[in-house]
Amino acid sequence: MVDFNGIWVVDFGGQYNQLIARRVREANVYCEIVPWFKYADRLSGERPEGVIFTGGPASVYEAGAPMLPAAVFEAGVPVLGICYGAQLMAHALGGKVASPDYKEYGRVRLHADAVGDSLIFKGIPLGGEASGERGYCWMSHTDYVERPPEGFRVTSRTDNCPSASIEDAGRLLYGTQFHPEVHHTPFGQELLKNFLYEVCGCKGDWTMANFAKSKIGEIREALKGKKALCALSGGVDSSVAAVLTHKAIGDGLTCVFVDHGLLRKGEGDQVMEVYGKRFNMKIKRVDAQERFLGKLKGVDDPERKRKIIGEEFIRVFEEEARRLKDEEGGVDFLLQGTIYPDVVESGSGEAAVIKSHHNVGGLPDDMDLELLEPLRLLFKDEVRKVGEELGIAPELVWRQPFPGPGLAIRCLGEVTPEKLRIIRESDAILREEIDAYNEALFARTGKRDYGAAYGENAAERAVWQYFTVLPNIRSVGVMGDFRTYDYTVGIRAVTSVDGMTSDWARLPYETLERVSNRIVNEVDGVNRIVYDITSKPPSTIEWE
Ligand code: XMP
Repeated sequence: MVDFNGIWVVDFGGQYNQLIARRVREANVYCEIVPWFKYADRLSGERPEGVIFTGGPASVYEAGAPMLPAAVFEAGVPVLGICYGAQLMAHALGGKVASPDYKEYGRVRLHADAVGDSLIFKGIPLGGEASGERGYCWMSHTDYVERPPEGFRVTSRTDNCPSASIEDAGRLLYGTQFHPEVHHTPFGQELLKNFLYEVCGCKGDWTMANFAKSKIGEIREALKGKKALCALSGGVDSSVAAVLTHKAIGDGLTCVFVDHGLLRKGEGDQVMEVYGKRFNMKIKRVDAQERFLGKLKGVDDPERKRKIIGEEFIRVFEEEARRLKDEEGGVDFLLQGTIYPDVVESGSGEAAVIKSHHNVGGLPDDMDLELLEPLRLLFKDEVRKVGEELGIAPELVWRQPFPGPGLAIRCLGEVTPEKLRIIRESDAILREEIDAYNEALFARTGKRDYGAAYGENAAERAVWQYFTVLPNIRSVGVMGDFRTYDYTVGIRAVTSVDGMTSDWARLPYETLERVSNRIVNEVDGVNRIVYDITSKPPSTIEWE
C-alpha cells in the first residue's frame, strides 16, 4: 500500500509552492499542499512525516504577515523552511530577521564551509574548489536570518547572506534562504531528498505504478456492485481516469463520448478504437454534430460560441445520463478527471480554482450522483505516468492540449461545416508533415521534437502545440488561368512550458513549404497560407 501520510508542503503564498510539491513527488514521496493558516489546526489531529515551509511574499515584521506560534515547532515533526519559511521559523523561535536595503537575486555562489555532519548536505560535495558549477544556489530575497534562534547553527552562507542555511538537528529543524526546488540550485533535489529520507525517514514508495495498483483496489472496494458514468473526451485526464476505473469495475463503468463535431480529423474514431476496442470499455458515442452546429448557426462572437458549446455539452450529457440511469437500473457515481492543480487550496487565501472544463460538475442535483475523482491528488505529469502504467499509448498520454470548445475557437466568425472541413483537412496535413519531420529527425539524431514541453525529455519535446486556424479572411489568388477568391489558413506552432507564455516555434522552412503547398493543393477553398510569428503575451496561443 502506498504511504499517503507523507509530507505537508505548508504554503505561505510563494510562487514555487506547487513546484516544491512536484519535487517531493519526484523523489517518490507523497505530499500535499496545506495553506499556512490551516497548519496548526491540522497538526493537532494528524502527524505528517515532515513539513516543508514554502517561501512567500511577506516580511515577518509586516502587519498581517503569515505567522505560526512557537508551539508548532515542538511537535517533533521535522521542518524544512525555505526562504520566508526559514525566516518565519527563526522569528517564531526567538531569532532575528534583518531587512537590509539590497536584494539578493539569482544564481549566487554558496560557501558551504560549515556543513559538518549536516544531514541535509549529506553526500553533497560543495566545499572548496572541487565544487565548481555545483557550488551555486538560487536566491530571491530581501530579508534574511541575521541571528538564528538558540540551538541553531549556520551551515552555509553567501557573500551577502550570513545564513544561507541553518539547522537545529536535535529538534529536526532546518532552514535554507536559497531555493532548493528550482533547477538553478544544482544540488537542490539532492538536498530535498536528504531532508525526506535522512531527516524524515520517508520510504520513497510513491510511484505511479504503486498509485495505480492501490487506486484500482480502492475503487474496486468502494464501488462494489455500484455503477459509474463518465464523460470521456479523449483528453488525457478523462481518459486516464476512465481506464483506471475500468480496470477496477469493468463494465460497471459506462463512458459517454459526446462527439460535438468540433474535434480534429480522425479523433472521434480514435477514441472509439482505442478505448472502446483496445481497452474494451463500454462507450456510448453520441453523434451530436448537427445539434451543436444548429445552435452555433449565425453566431460569431467567441464568448457566445464557448457558452453555447458548454451548455449544449451538459444538456447532451445529461440526457444520456438520464437514459442510461433508466436502462442500467441506476447509476451511482459520476467519474471526473479532476487533478490536483484544479483543487489545491493556496496559501495566499484565494479560493481554489475549480475546473470548468466541460462543466460536467453542473449536472442537476436530482440526478443524485456521487463524485468519483481518482486523479484528484495528482499533478499533470503524474497523470501521464499513470496513463503509461495503464498501457495507454505514448502519443495519447503526451497529447497536445486541446480546448474543450474544440475547433470552434479556431474558426473565426460563424462556424459552418465548410469552414470546419477546411480546418480539419489543413490541420491533418500540418500534423502529417510535422510527424514526417519528427521521424526524419529521429532517424538522424535519435530525438524527436514534438509533444508537450514537460515531463521526461522536456527540452526535446519543445513544441507545445501546433494547429491550423481559419481567420475568416478571403482574398484574391490565381490558379491556372483563373482568379480565385478563397480562404486564408493560418499556421500556429508554439513552444511553451505551461501554456501561460509561449514563443512561436521555429519550424524548418522546408516543412512550412511542404505544408503550404499541400494545403493549397489538397484542400478546396484555400489559396493563401500565413504563419503566426507572435509570442504570448501580447498574443494568445489560440486565435478566437
Ligand atoms: P491561450 O489561447 O489562452 O491558450 O493562450 C492557452 C492554452 O489553453 C488552451 N485552451 C483551452 N483549454 N478549454 C481548454 O481545455 C478552453 O476553453 C481553452 N482555451 C484555450 C489552449 O489550447 C492553450 O494550450
